[in-house]
Amino acid sequence: MAHLIAPSILAADFLHLKEGIDIVNNSNADWLHIDVMDGHFVPNISFGLALMPAFKSGCKKTKDVHLMISNPDQYLEAFVYEGADVLTVHYEACDHLHRTVQRIKELGAKAGVAINPHTSVDLLDDILEEVDVVCVMSVNPGYGGQKFIYQTLPKVRKLRAKLDERNLDALIEIDGGVGMQNAESLLQAGANVLVAGSSVYKSKNPVETIARLKNIGQV
Ligand code: DX5
Ligand code: ZN
Repeated sequence: MAHLIAPSILAADFLHLKEGIDIVNNSNADWLHIDVMDGHFVPNISFGLALMPAFKSGCKKTKDVHLMISNPDQYLEAFVYEGADVLTVHYEACDHLHRTVQRIKELGAKAGVAINPHTSVDLLDDILEEVDVVCVMSVNPGYGGQKFIYQTLPKVRKLRAKLDERNLDALIEIDGGVGMQNAESLLQAGANVLVAGSSVYKSKNPVETIARLKNIGQV
């Protein structure tokens, strides 16, 4: 499967939000990555449900919602109703992860589970069958523009081996500090979805940057 590119709208210019969304609409980006932060699970507050109608009506591509919030169960229904196609919760924020994942799928969205940099992929062994996307955080969640943590690479390799060994088709998404400097190694390690915030939106030509990320490995 060709890899997917998911620009993170967190890095866009909020004064021109539609332009940020159109970069995804009018490029070969696959997903729009939407970072929701609550100031509790992570130190920062970004935006929440209030912006979802704008993403739903303005973006024609897959809306990939990354919930960096405590008690995500409380909001699953609302986010799916407001247009989340992929809804990702954090392993560290869920006491009953299996139930949460089932609920997301019942609501009709793809279910994602994100793990922080300190969380071992082994902890997902008993949920891998159920999830559509595993989001491996390559920075500590909370802020855009942080430095990529290299320990992510062996984690991705390990997770890829587990999925292949068990013949599972969950996608591996990498989130944080991703750009041209590490995208190829991540793909070689087995990643399927690259989230890219600053490297896309802070670049001179975001559409071209997306195309370059998308074309890695194509001959
Ligand atoms: C971090 C967020 C990321 C972030 C990525 O908490 O989950 O999605 O926006 O931004 P960059 O690519 O700038 O690290
Ligand atoms: Zn994210």
